[in-house]
Amino acid sequence: METSYALGFDVYGTLVDPLAMAEPLRALVGEQAGRFAELWRSKQLEYSFRRGLMRRYVDFDACTRQALRYTQRALRCELPESDQDRLLEAYLYLPLFPEVAASLTAIKAQGHRLVAFTNGVEASIRALLANAGVLPLLEDVVSVDDLRTFKPDPAVYEYLARRTGRTPAETWLVSSNAWDVIGAKAAGLRAAWVRRQPEAVFDPWEVEPDIMVSGLDQLAAGFARPPG
Ligand code: LAC
Repeated sequence: METSYALGFDVYGTLVDPLAMAEPLRALVGEQAGRFAELWRSKQLEYSFRRGLMRRYVDFDACTRQALRYTQRALRCELPESDQDRLLEAYLYLPLFPEVAASLTAIKAQGHRLVAFTNGVEASIRALLANAGVLPLLEDVVSVDDLRTFKPDPAVYEYLARRTGRTPAETWLVSSNAWDVIGAKAAGLRAAWVRRQPEAVFDPWEVEPDIMVSGLDQLAAGFARPPG
């Protein structure tokens, strides 16, 4: 019999590219745009990790806004409020990685349950995925915001399995973020690591992904045969 899994797709970095913010940033900060986008993203994540540990939750949109402020100060390029608002609006229009729409369609056709699983606020993620045209391919958007904590708290991975009505062992996380994959595995889920850059390094901990793929197209091909 065919096995059907629940697959929770991480959003930022896996379905859409947060570093594409370099594009709208270029008009505002010139050649610092690439560095700005990278520092913004890494501070956004750091803020979510720290807030999770400290149990001082604010939602991911607030982490993104505060990380934007930090990045301006760190790179000495303060922007007017109106430009900051425009950048945060552009965050709702991040582009998909090129293979995403076709691959989600193929994996869905194999009979698996597909949901988005994200640190992001549900309403923002629904808007983002609708703007990108893939919201109809996903059965649901599961957000950590419901639990007021962040990945990689084990509670959020257990919540993903609960929301999809599957056991953790029948639930997959699909993520380009190695720390997210390790979080899922530590909570008893299965996990696919999407190694979007060939130079990306998986953290040398005591945990390995169940599958490593270079993009979601490879994952679609892998799920056509039941994963081992
Ligand atoms: C997310 C971030 C962590 O979408 O990439 O959950």
